[in-house]
Amino acid sequence: MSTNTATSTTAEPVLEAVHLRKVFPLHKVKPFSPPQVVHAVEDASLALRPGRATALVGESGSGKTTVARLLARLYTPTAGTIRYREETVKARGGTALRAYRRHVQMVFQDPFSSLNPTHTVRHHLSRPLRIHGHAHSAAEETRLITSLLERVNLTPAEQFIHKFPHQLSGGQRQRVAIARALAAKPSVLLADEPVSMLDVSIRLDVLNLLSRLKEEEDLALLFITHDLASARYFAEETLVMYAGQMVEGGPSEEVIQRSKHPYTQLLLSAAPDPDRFGSSDQQGNSKGWLQPALPTSGSVELPSLINPPGGCRFHPRCPHAMPVCSQQFPPRTELGGGHWVNCFLYGAENKTDQARGLFTRPLWSPALPSVLTGCRPLPIRIIRRINEHNR
Ligand SMILES: Nc1ncnc2c1ncn2[C@@H]1O[C@H](COP(=O)(O)OP(=O)(O)OP(=O)(O)O)[C@@H](O)[C@H]1O
Ligand code: SF4
Ligand SMILES: [Mg+2]
Repeated sequence: MSTNTATSTTAEPVLEAVHLRKVFPLHKVKPFSPPQVVHAVEDASLALRPGRATALVGESGSGKTTVARLLARLYTPTAGTIRYREETVKARGGTALRAYRRHVQMVFQDPFSSLNPTHTVRHHLSRPLRIHGHAHSAAEETRLITSLLERVNLTPAEQFIHKFPHQLSGGQRQRVAIARALAAKPSVLLADEPVSMLDVSIRLDVLNLLSRLKEEEDLALLFITHDLASARYFAEETLVMYAGQMVEGGPSEEVIQRSKHPYTQLLLSAAPDPDRFGSSDQQGNSKGWLQPALPTSGSVELPSLINPPGGCRFHPRCPHAMPVCSQQFPPRTELGGGHWVNCFLYGAENKTDQARGLFTRPLWSPALPSVLTGCRPLPIRIIRRINEHNR
């Protein structure tokens, strides 16, 4: 795995989302009640570039999966545009959608439900090869399946090709799911928490596999995670989402080491990272876990997305909220080097002490780790192994 210090954003994006919005209509509870919608994603923009990973981080319910599903065209955007190699994507079905899916593939969180239990590995991998016209004979199909299994480190391939999903471990199933995505020969891979349901001992192997594939196959990768530590070491770029809105983004090192948005700082305060916080005890528990940089005041709940707060959706939780924060969504402020933030603290007219990072209020709440992290973060010993690997 490479160190993710690269800040270049010069390569042309393969896939872009521009001002994406998604609302989900809800069924009426009573016949004459007013229609309600879930405002799941609001004005989300991102660009995925070849050979680079972009991590999308945020707490449970912040809209990460919805963004990935919009990009995969599993959902139709309510507003906004998706561009693949500069062309606006309009495909909704049929051959146009199939052609788009050849380029943009998704790996789901749950390897247990993403594979059909009644089909063998061979069946799972031969289907995309046939659908996308990559295999023209049985011999070619076998050769390509063998190569796919080898690329995801399921070797010797003959040992796996005839197995059913229940005969594989969680990590092996996720490798088959990755191989299935690769069978289409995509240029974009959308990985929705690809390791969160795996045993901690194999998470690093699967992350390393994705990292190698990204580099060898020049894949543009969207990596969705709750875990800032793995975002930092795995992805060149990190985007932070809160309640459907993108709030901060840029090179991962910048966003994590010099976070600006109060929500990113809140997330970081709940994430153990030995490099950032320094020491850990003998069991590998980061002391940083109990030394938050910026905990919260007020509510620790994500707001309702049926009736979300106006303006910056973080304002009910933000210790620095100003009157303007509830009235309008802050514009993007460029901080240099590709780092940006959507927060009124950083506008040209708002260079306050707070904007310079001089936060004074102690804001920690012991409820934060479980509230913020829908899944357990990588243990410190695993993070240390990633660090050592990167040095
Ligand atoms: N099909 C749907 N119908 C109605 N609401 C939905 C639908 N899909 C998602 N939502 C809502 O949209 C919001 C964002 O959901 P999403 O699954 O994208 O969040 P997430 O960040 O991926 O969360 P998690 O980390 O738990 O996977 C949530 O409030 C969710 O309840
Ligand atoms: S815009 Fe206002 S409420 Fe939102 S994070 Fe910045 S200071 Fe806090
Ligand atoms: Mg999700």
